Amino acid sequence: MDKQTAATVAPEKKAKPSRAIIRPRRMDFDFSADIPRFWFDNNVFKTLLMTAQSCTFPEGERFFIDSVRHYQSQITDPELQAQVRGFIGQEAHHGKEHTTLNDFMAARGFATEAVQSHVRTSLQLLRKRMSAERQLAMTCALEHFTAMLAELALEHPDFFKGMDDRV
Ligand SMILES: [Fe+2]
Repeated sequence: MDKQTAATVAPEKKAKPSRAIIRPRRMDFDFSADIPRFWFDNNVFKTLLMTAQSCTFPEGERFFIDSVRHYQSQITDPELQAQVRGFIGQEAHHGKEHTTLNDFMAARGFATEAVQSHVRTSLQLLRKRMSAERQLAMTCALEHFTAMLAELALEHPDFFKGMDDRV
């Protein structure tokens, strides 16, 4: 980078990063009985891939919450404290909505509990073996992947083509 370019970008870099306030949204999804068995494009693979992914979330969200909660008492910045409370509330809602979908699929005979149980066992092992710092780092990384996936999905709405709107 030449001197002139560095001078141009420097003020931006010094700006305080924006701190979004996280407002948990209560969705209370309710999946009705007339939703097709294979609700993603009438495709077994797509439907079960999304279901399997959903199965990783309830326990995953709990892991995220705990990894942040572990540091909660050390936070003195009121803005960051508020963000942590918002994050915990939001993740709790996410977990609940995924559980609703997973239970809906389980009632239709899909082995969602097998996947959830595998995730639970794996995360219990990680909780035992990894430091709190590393668990928090893992949460940050996974949330980053989540944001990338969300961006990809929002930028390419055709990805959801054929998915039942209610799902
Ligand atoms: Fe989440």
